[in-house]
Amino acid sequence: MRFILIMFSSLLALNLTGCSKVDKNLTVSSPDKQLSVQLTLAENGGLTYQVNRGKNTVVKSSQLGFEFAQQAKFTEFEVLDSQVRSHQSSWQAVWGERKNISEIYNELFVSLKDKNSQRKLNLRFRVFDDGLGFRYEFPQQPAMSKFVITDEKTQFNLAQNMQTWWIEADYNSYEKPYQTSELAKIKHVQTPLTMRGQAGLHVSIHEAALTDYASMSLVRTNDTTLEAELAPWADGTKVKAHVPFQTPWRTIQVADSAAKLVESDLIINLNEPNKLADTSWIKPMKFMGIWWEIHLGIHTWKEGPRHGATTERAMAYIDFAAENNIEAVLFEGWNKGWEQWGTREAYVVPTDDFDLAQVANHAKSKGVVIVGHNETGGNIEAYESHVDEIFSIYSELGINVVKTGYVAEQGFANGENHHGQFAVNHYRKIVELAAKYKIMLNVHEPVKDTGIRRTYPNMMTREGARGGEWNAWSAGNSPDYTMTLPFTRLLAGSMDYTPGVFDIDYSNFAGKRYDWWGNPQKADYRVHTTLARQLANMLVLYSPIQMAADVMENYQGHPAFEFIRKLDVDFDDSKILAGEVGEYIYVARQADDTWYIGLATNSQSRLAQVNLDFLEAGAAYQAQIFKDAADAHYQNNPEAYVIELQQLAQQDKLSINLAEGGGAAIILQKVK
Ligand code: NOJ
Ligand code: CA
Repeated sequence: MRFILIMFSSLLALNLTGCSKVDKNLTVSSPDKQLSVQLTLAENGGLTYQVNRGKNTVVKSSQLGFEFAQQAKFTEFEVLDSQVRSHQSSWQAVWGERKNISEIYNELFVSLKDKNSQRKLNLRFRVFDDGLGFRYEFPQQPAMSKFVITDEKTQFNLAQNMQTWWIEADYNSYEKPYQTSELAKIKHVQTPLTMRGQAGLHVSIHEAALTDYASMSLVRTNDTTLEAELAPWADGTKVKAHVPFQTPWRTIQVADSAAKLVESDLIINLNEPNKLADTSWIKPMKFMGIWWEIHLGIHTWKEGPRHGATTERAMAYIDFAAENNIEAVLFEGWNKGWEQWGTREAYVVPTDDFDLAQVANHAKSKGVVIVGHNETGGNIEAYESHVDEIFSIYSELGINVVKTGYVAEQGFANGENHHGQFAVNHYRKIVELAAKYKIMLNVHEPVKDTGIRRTYPNMMTREGARGGEWNAWSAGNSPDYTMTLPFTRLLAGSMDYTPGVFDIDYSNFAGKRYDWWGNPQKADYRVHTTLARQLANMLVLYSPIQMAADVMENYQGHPAFEFIRKLDVDFDDSKILAGEVGEYIYVARQADDTWYIGLATNSQSRLAQVNLDFLEAGAAYQAQIFKDAADAHYQNNPEAYVIELQQLAQQDKLSINLAEGGGAAIILQKVK
């Protein structure tokens, strides 16, 4: 018996050595040495990586690789070369949560050769203090030219069974409610996937610089192991490529608090620098428009007795915007779009009751920007064939912001989906063309954001989640949902959520709302926050083109509108003061010498306490506080708010009660 045991244990030892015997161990750490990545090339040819933070493993040994059409998998790699280098620089963003961004990382570059096929593959890891990215590169080489990826095998084998926040993967829509579950229960989810583990560990998996590739979702293959799943082409393949070629970065943000996760610049740092020589025409702005009233069902996109975008109403909106420091106005349904989706006319021919030249001239004379609207309905090929002319007409008219839309829940007209390589390339083509015409973009039903704004700063904002519109014609978005967004969807980049609704229960339009088919709209649809939280949302749900979504008449003479009027969305800096995923977030954003603080909570009331240590030492600040009234509640008393004035300084502490589904928005103006 003893003999057998000895034999068995020596066999085991032998076998273990066999498995762990590596040709090479390649490692790289973050500049602060906390985070480290180890790449392992096992004797069986497999390639794996592991991520540690201090002494703890965050991502256990995880497989890397691909499957190809008409080509074998890589079977046995050898390392040809490897290099580690350090990078330290900073760059100026044209706009953003902050203007000065440090880019500090250590990079491991490994060049590999598949022994059997002689094909070459490079891997590049960049490890920052706030997370890491890695990508595959297929260099120019004799053994490979064109290739088709049928599956990416990148795994994320998480070391803990964490709490996760996710939306289910659907290749034609991101407009899903966020769900929370333990990691070991999820099936197939979108990124960013946000996770919270033990001792405050927060992790988010996403991608950066999604270019000429299919977007990645995550499938759980085992316990706590996730694997990349690429959005397919209509023919079922994933990516069509030729060398030289590189994948987007697979990103893993790692932080010790939810607030730190939100403050990370990892995604934009992993994008290419700005490609636009002149960016003087790119400016953050607030906008309002003929939009919410259509979603509410008071007005229509289509011509008819309830048509919204008439010359008269557009002129009134322009005047209101000019008088109230709102830089831009959006008109939806001013064109023949709703009668003739997909045609050239849909984008350039105004309805009979809309005098485009008159409206454009009036806007110009008042210094107001018009936001053009292009709803493609998913007719991509038609749009691509007209878009050059459309943008040229718009730029002649001074329309230098365009909101595009891709409403097509069953996929694009040509059978492709919203997230595949075809779509990624289409969206990029439009960004590049828009830049040529000096047009800024706000894309609805977009592909997800992966930080492209660094390279093309005219790619301002996008929807890409369930936006405020859902409150108009469905049960809507819960206060817990909007408190999940900053820690999930917004990690990818800015969002056109469309906050700022004051008439929370639409009582100002009782009996005047109709659904798409002209039937009376359900009376119980409404917004699920307090009014003060609508103001806070303008700060916590970051967008460089930020909508004040409500109908003009609801703002006229409303004291709380002063916050929107005064808000400057061209921020220089931002701090996340505190937050927990799905619960609350407190942010401070600076524009010149004014700070704006947004405090927001989910369906629970709470006492928000924040230090003001980010204010300039020795300076006095006049604070104007827009907050929930003591008896406010998002369900029973949502519009009860108070405005308070206070003198505050760096050493002070703010304590503000937030109602259930409530919030506060504060302007801190430096006293000169
Ligand atoms: C959906 C968009 O999200 C919304 O903002 C727009 O008004 C409609 N499509 C019509 O294009
Ligand atoms: Ca939408």
